[in-house]
Amino acid sequence: MANQILLTGGTGFIGSHTAVELMSQGYEVIIVDDLSNSELKTLKSIERITGKKPKFYQADIRQYELINAIFKENKITGIIHFAAKKAVGESVEQPVMYYDININSMINLLKLMAAYQVQPIVFSSSCTVYGQPSILPVTEATPFLPAESPYGNTKQIGETILRDSTAANKNINAISLRYFNPVGAHESGLIGELPIGVPANLIPFITQTAAGLRQELKIFGGDYNTPDGTAIRDYIHVVDLAKAHVVAIDRMLNAKQAKRYEFFNIGTGKGSSVLEVIQSFEKMTKVKVPYRIVDRRPGDIVEIYADTSLANQVLDWKSLLNLDEMMRSAWQWQLNLGK
Ligand code: UD1
Repeated sequence: MANQILLTGGTGFIGSHTAVELMSQGYEVIIVDDLSNSELKTLKSIERITGKKPKFYQADIRQYELINAIFKENKITGIIHFAAKKAVGESVEQPVMYYDININSMINLLKLMAAYQVQPIVFSSSCTVYGQPSILPVTEATPFLPAESPYGNTKQIGETILRDSTAANKNINAISLRYFNPVGAHESGLIGELPIGVPANLIPFITQTAAGLRQELKIFGGDYNTPDGTAIRDYIHVVDLAKAHVVAIDRMLNAKQAKRYEFFNIGTGKGSSVLEVIQSFEKMTKVKVPYRIVDRRPGDIVEIYADTSLANQVLDWKSLLNLDEMMRSAWQWQLNLGK
């Protein structure tokens, strides 16, 4: 029987791309999502790409009894836990909501894993756990710095909970994937990022500005100590990132883990500045992005990019798609949204 993988937050940006990659590898996918930041029609898009419809439940992972019923009804063999809030600024304004959603959902899943003897869980962590590291590229050996935001803190706490739980319970295995900046969209143009309201992240803001939905892009800070003065991030194509989840769950299901808790940087290893991102976008789409340099955004770090050698060696995973392809596919998705 095929492995049944529960994807919390599976209709979201990274979750939907991971559903597609898992299904194309023969996994059965069960999605649980409360649709607070995604849409039901994503399921149809996943079906159009893969030829199969994933099983779907609309629920909040904090609703223990509802999630318990889902475990009872299915033979879940692994979990990929995406469901979470992820806006840094919002987390500063509403910390209790962030701790409630991001931490309580993890706790419920761990209780249910123990109750139903489900061993592996993959957790969506973030490069935010490193803060502004003093040495770049950043490796997994870099210690956490005090979190800059409640959002960042929930990722550090989430990892800590997994470390402690795997140490205490031999029947639980976990891998945290520390995402750098996921962007781009599936080559079909059928799934991508669906920001609600004004996007906080760079790429959706660029595509919406290019599409004429926003007047101009504000570049947060032009006076950083970087070659062109704008901040540097490691942008990673969401399809490459999705594939890392398949490798991670495979590794645990096939008992290939060296330790019962592992964590990996998932990026390209290449830093790009905000201006370089805009240049790549304009080159690939031939559409100009009007922009203006404004003050730095509070809480932003100057520069971060990944050392990915651990994921390359241990997971045998490598990013394949470059910044140009990220921009091309993000634009294709934006154009399809308008149809
Ligand atoms: C941050 C977190 C990341 C989190 C993500 C989710 C860090 C290092 N990263 O990513 O963990 O998952 O938020 O929200 O804390 N920019 C502009 N104008 C804009 C928008 C962004 O200039 O309108 C710039 C930012 O200043 C930054 C870069 O673009 O330099 C990327 O910003 P963004 O897409 O918001 O992601 P991060 O802040 O890097």
